Amino acid sequence: MANTHFGFKTVDENEKARHVRSVFDSVAPKYDVMNDLMSAGLHRLWKRYTIAVANPQPGHQVLDIAGGTGDLSLAFARKVGAAGRVVHTDINEAMLREGRTRLLDLGVVLPTMVCDAEKLPFADNSFDIVTVAFGLRNMTHKELALAEMHRTLKPGGKLLVLEFSRVAKPLEKAYDWYSFNILPKIGKWVANDEESYRYLAESIRMHPDQETLRQMMKAAGFGHVDVHNLTGGVVALHVGIKC
Ligand SMILES: C[S@@+](CC[C@H](N)C(=O)[O-])C[C@H]1O[C@@H](n2cnc3c(N)ncnc32)[C@H](O)[C@@H]1O
Repeated sequence: MANTHFGFKTVDENEKARHVRSVFDSVAPKYDVMNDLMSAGLHRLWKRYTIAVANPQPGHQVLDIAGGTGDLSLAFARKVGAAGRVVHTDINEAMLREGRTRLLDLGVVLPTMVCDAEKLPFADNSFDIVTVAFGLRNMTHKELALAEMHRTLKPGGKLLVLEFSRVAKPLEKAYDWYSFNILPKIGKWVANDEESYRYLAESIRMHPDQETLRQMMKAAGFGHVDVHNLTGGVVALHVGIKC
């Protein structure tokens, strides 16, 4: 049996997905409000930047992996128009339900599917754009998920991985203090869930840094990978082209 990490804990590989599921089952109802509070609204700018770099065109086929409450799906749907298609997916039903309700309330109807990024139920070369925002960090076999993203992209297609990353050295102390002292407290007060937000802080530290993830994307088959550091490396956008 192989082990992996769940935050700072070591767990059996077969158990990680269950732990991750219980985190997102728990945070789903307060996910959007917590995102705004924790990032002081910055996640909206990071996502807007991701859409701008993706440069979706009317008619494009887009796959949003780990789409959760649907921020990226919604923005893409507005860009690709009626001739295009955005598939909103996530492994967690509770997160998808929150997203689907929100999109329906805004008058946006998208195909919504429960699916595991490590075994995507789509044919090879299906999508012009594949995105995963703040999802890769939670996956057990990241190499497998990246290979699946590569497989389902059309040649010339773009993968956008938006994820927490390694902050610039001068920010480290303040960022650590905020992550381990303030973040879990906000989680406790707003969502009555300190543990899930402690996991968030820990999982960020365990996630591959900018260069490691760039190499992983290359190993998954992406011929060209660009890295955009955002907010001093708090977040990085990795853009892979299937050449
Ligand atoms: C932090 S949320 C991000 C939601 C949304 N993309 C956003 O940026 O607001 C992470 C999401 O990753 C999903 N996730 C975790 N492991 C996954 C997997 N193996 N396949 C698909 N989704 C997964 C979780 O269920 C959760 O909804």
